[in-house]
This record gives sequence, structure tokens and C-alpha cells, in this order.
Amino acid sequence: MNKVLVSLLLTLGISGLAHAAGDAAAGEGKVAICGACHGADGNSMAPNFPKLAGQGEKYLLKQLQDIKAGTAAGADATVGRKVPEMTGLLDGLTDQDLEDISAFYAGQKMSVGAADPALVARGEALYRGGKLAEGMPACTGCHSPTGSGNDGAKFPQLGGQHAAYTAKQLTDFREGNRYNDGEGMIMRSIAAKLSNKDIEALSSYIQGLH
Ligand code: HEC
Ligand code: HEC
Repeated sequence: MNKVLVSLLLTLGISGLAHAAGDAAAGEGKVAICGACHGADGNSMAPNFPKLAGQGEKYLLKQLQDIKAGTAAGADATVGRKVPEMTGLLDGLTDQDLEDISAFYAGQKMSVGAADPALVARGEALYRGGKLAEGMPACTGCHSPTGSGNDGAKFPQLGGQHAAYTAKQLTDFREGNRYNDGEGMIMRSIAAKLSNKDIEALSSYIQGLH
């Protein structure tokens, strides 16, 4: 077999494994430690800890793999996703564990928050209209009009998420502190067009979106 074919088969084999169904019931038994920050059912109380409940399974799995790589001992500054609060927590978990955990949280229901009425108009205009003059697309195209995302494409659910967490993510993408959005730099290039006031309005709007 030629090398291209071998590597193609390897890639298919690996992604085949990664897409093996996670077992939500098994996952429930592996998240005791996570509940302290993310809530027992994945609806965290603290606004800087993201809600995981109802988040897309494929998106969750990608984040867990990225965070595991980013928090591994000796990980290079450019690798994965840095979540210092989770350092060491994923080290002992296998790919199957991460799949089971993702299946468990995906099967829960994300609670909805409320938007600040004073920020809705600006937030909604940006979410649904983007900034066409600056070439920034609307969020709806990928994250859907209701904020439920599109898990087939690993576009996360946003609707209902804590505003403080969302604002930090958009700021981190803009400042280059979160860079696991792939080589296309989708979110880094979008966030580059957002001011602090845009981010505040979008994050508040998204918290109440469902
Ligand atoms: C000490 C608190 C803490 C614990 C314990 C913790 N996390 Fe987290 N987790 C965080 C924080 C904080 C973030 C977001 C960091 C940021 O701002 O990017 C996060 C992010 C995540 C994300 C990304 C969510 C998204 O929407 O992109 C996932 C998935 C996740 N955690 C899963 C887990 C799992 C599974 C466990 C248990 C094995 C766990 N966490 C334990 C604090 C914690
Ligand atoms: C072309 C598709 C696309 C568009 C348009 C888009 N996003 Fe995203 N967004 C993504 C992808 C892909 C990710 C996941 C990146 C990763 O894997 O870490 C993401 C992640 C996010 C996250 C992180 C979610 C979490 O749980 O950590 C936020 C917040 C977000 N997007 C907000 C927005 C907002 C606000 C807009 C509109 C101004 C927008 N996105 C437009 C594709 C898109």
C-alpha cells in the first residue's frame, strides 16, 4: 500500500474511534469531580464556569481533547486550550472516558438565563445581522437563530450560557488567548471585529436566547 493510502486509513480509523458513541450512563459515573464547578447536571451556578448541560456532544469531546492537550504537563503555549482550573483533571482519562462524559452532558438540558433589556437591541442586531460593512458574518449562520448551534459541524450551543463566560471567550478569541478554533481562525477573526461594548451586548443577549 502506498503511504497516502496508509495514512488515509489511519485517519479514518482514528476518527472512526473518536466518533464511537459515548455511553451517557457510564459518563455519569465519571463526572463527580466536575460537578464542583460545572454543577451536578452540568448547569453551573458560578457565571465564570460554563454550563455544559445540553451542549453538543461532538463539540464537548473536541473541547475535552483540546483542554487535555493544553493542560498536559510540559504542553507548549500554542497547544490545545488552556484552562488552568482544570490542570491535571483530565490526565488520567481515556478517549472513551471523554466520550462518555460528553454523552452524559449532551443529554442534560441547559437552563436559560435572562438578558439585560437595555442591551437586547444591540446584542440582537449583532447576533442576527453581524457587521456586514466590516465583513463580519452574523452568528445565526453557524450558531443558529435560537442559539442551539450545529453539533454536526461542532458549532457550540450558545443560548442560555452565562454572559460572563461568553464575554471571556469572545475576549480570549480576540486577544489570541483562546486559539483552538482551528486553522481557519473562525472565531478569532470574528472577535477581532468586536468592541468591548459589542461583546457585553452579545453576551447578555445570548444568556437569554433560546
Ligand atoms: C475548579 C473548577 C473546574 C473543575 C473542577 C472542572 N472544570 Fe471544566 N472548566 C472550568 C473553567 C473555569 C472553564 C472555562 C475556562 C475558560 O474561561 O475558558 C471550564 C471549561 C470546560 C469545558 C469547555 C466548555 C465550553 O463550552 O467550551 C468543558 C467541556 C469542561 N470544562 C469539562 C469539565 C469536565 C468534564 C470536568 C471534570 C473532569 C471539569 N470540567 C472540571 C472549571 C472547572
Ligand atoms: C462560520 C461559523 C461561525 C460563526 C459565523 C460564528 N461562530 Fe462562534 N464558533 C464557531 C466555532 C467553530 C466555534 C468552536 C471553536 C472551537 O472548537 O473551540 C465557535 C465558538 C464560539 C464560542 C465559544 C463557546 C463556548 O462554549 O466556549 C462563542 C462564545 C461564540 N462562538 C460566539 C459567536 C458569536 C457571538 C458570533 C457572532 C458575532 C459567532 N460566534 C459567529 C463558529 C462560528
